[in-house]
Amino acid sequence: MTNYEVLPDTDALAARAVQFISDAAREAIAARGRFTIALTGGSSPKKTYALLASAPATLDWSKAFMFLGDDRFVPYSSDSSNFEMCRELLLRHVPVPKEQIFPIRTDTATKEEAAALYAETLSEVFSAPLPGPPPVFDVILLGMGEDGHCASLFPGMPTLAVTDKWVVSSPPGTLPPPVDRVTVTFPVLNAARNVLFQVDGEKKASVVRDILEGGSAATVHPSSGVQPTNGKLLWLLDTAAASLLSK
Ligand code: 6PG
Repeated sequence: MTNYEVLPDTDALAARAVQFISDAAREAIAARGRFTIALTGGSSPKKTYALLASAPATLDWSKAFMFLGDDRFVPYSSDSSNFEMCRELLLRHVPVPKEQIFPIRTDTATKEEAAALYAETLSEVFSAPLPGPPPVFDVILLGMGEDGHCASLFPGMPTLAVTDKWVVSSPPGTLPPPVDRVTVTFPVLNAARNVLFQVDGEKKASVVRDILEGGSAATVHPSSGVQPTNGKLLWLLDTAAASLLSK
């Protein structure tokens, strides 16, 4: 049974997400001296980022290592760039050392090259030899699209079946923006210590129900495939997104 919590609105959802992230950061720093987190794009985490930015003392940023779980293969100057959104709302407001921020490169000749380089970055920062067991993030943040995708793992795509790579490229999904992507794979998501979904809005309610109560397949709704092997999984839902759940 997947753990979920229902919050009255998106402000409460963001406040709970910040609490989750800061608790995980404290534990990680106490246990291992640093905190590694993969941020997500989309609109769902925006309030969380703004809230973290407004109270920088919530976290010891000098020990934080910031990554992206996926990005659109567009220049950082583009409105569609996940990294730019994270930078604008969070990264430029908090005292995280620049050398501890790891965007997915989007200036390479191809998206495949960007994916391979990001895997190398992960390998170096986590001291995890490629292509061995994936790095273990302290927290991976995810949103979910109305089609059930998460990160840039889209329904029906071959990327869902990848088991031997940490980072892959992907053609656009069916939801906008229609641009190529680079994304971590299920092996990375499922190796994490904590995965936190933030999902709001009525439009996502039926997919939330199918995933949390209907046991839908990961090929249909990729977010179902996020089942950390040894880590914690928590879905934060607002009342609209949770409105079709049976209890
Ligand atoms: C992206 C994301 C993606 C996102 C979902 C939900 O690059 O688009 O990382 O997985 O989290 O599409 O997006 P919304 O929060 O905007 O609904």
